[in-house]
Amino acid sequence: MSVFLTTLAAVVTVYVFLYYHIFKCSRRCESAVRLKGKTAIVTGGNTGIGKATALELARRGARVVLACRSKQRAEAAVFDIRRESGNSEVLYMHLDLASLKSVRSFAETFLQTEPRLDLLINNAEDRRKGRKEKTGGRRNGGVEEWGVSSWA
Ligand SMILES: NC(=O)c1ccc[n+]([C@@H]2O[C@H](COP(=O)([O-])OP(=O)(O)OC[C@H]3O[C@@H](n4cnc5c(N)ncnc54)[C@H](OP(=O)(O)O)[C@@H]3O)[C@@H](O)[C@H]2O)c1
Repeated sequence: MSVFLTTLAAVVTVYVFLYYHIFKCSRRCESAVRLKGKTAIVTGGNTGIGKATALELARRGARVVLACRSKQRAEAAVFDIRRESGNSEVLYMHLDLASLKSVRSFAETFLQTEPRLDLLINNAEDRRKGRKEKTGGRRNGGVEEWGVSSWA
């Protein structure tokens, strides 16, 4: 009997855990907030979560800057996002977060061309492990931190 009760308790616990984490936490965002007049930067916005985020921001009317290291991939994403959102205010600016020189250059270009910044989505991450960068820093683990501290 105690084995049965223990098993039942374990099954209920697993069910509650899965229900909460998979069904409850994976609900879609239901906010209807519009972002007309707002400007957003999405680092690594050419693919994955960054691209999905940029698309949602564009759908809500924001001006979206895709800060990416590959011109080709970024321009393809700009094309997709403009088409899918119907928002032409989506643009690419070059940014390689593994290079402080590139971070500074991006910041200068942004400040010269954009009058405001409302949202900064620090999404980019390089998942390749242990790669050495020209600056002497490690690519993995450094990319996000360098980017974040450079904005501050
Ligand atoms: N996927 C998940 O399950 C998950 C879960 C939790 C958190 N996250 C976080 O969500 C974020 C995005 O994840 P994801 O799965 O969408 O990643 P992803 O598909 O690998 O995309 C990463 C993006 O970062 C860019 N990037 C990498 N290194 C860069 C650099 N040095 N300079 C500029 N851009 C650079 C990539 O550009 P290229 O296209 O040029 O490579 C790409 O656009 C990450 O911060 C990750 O930690 C993801």
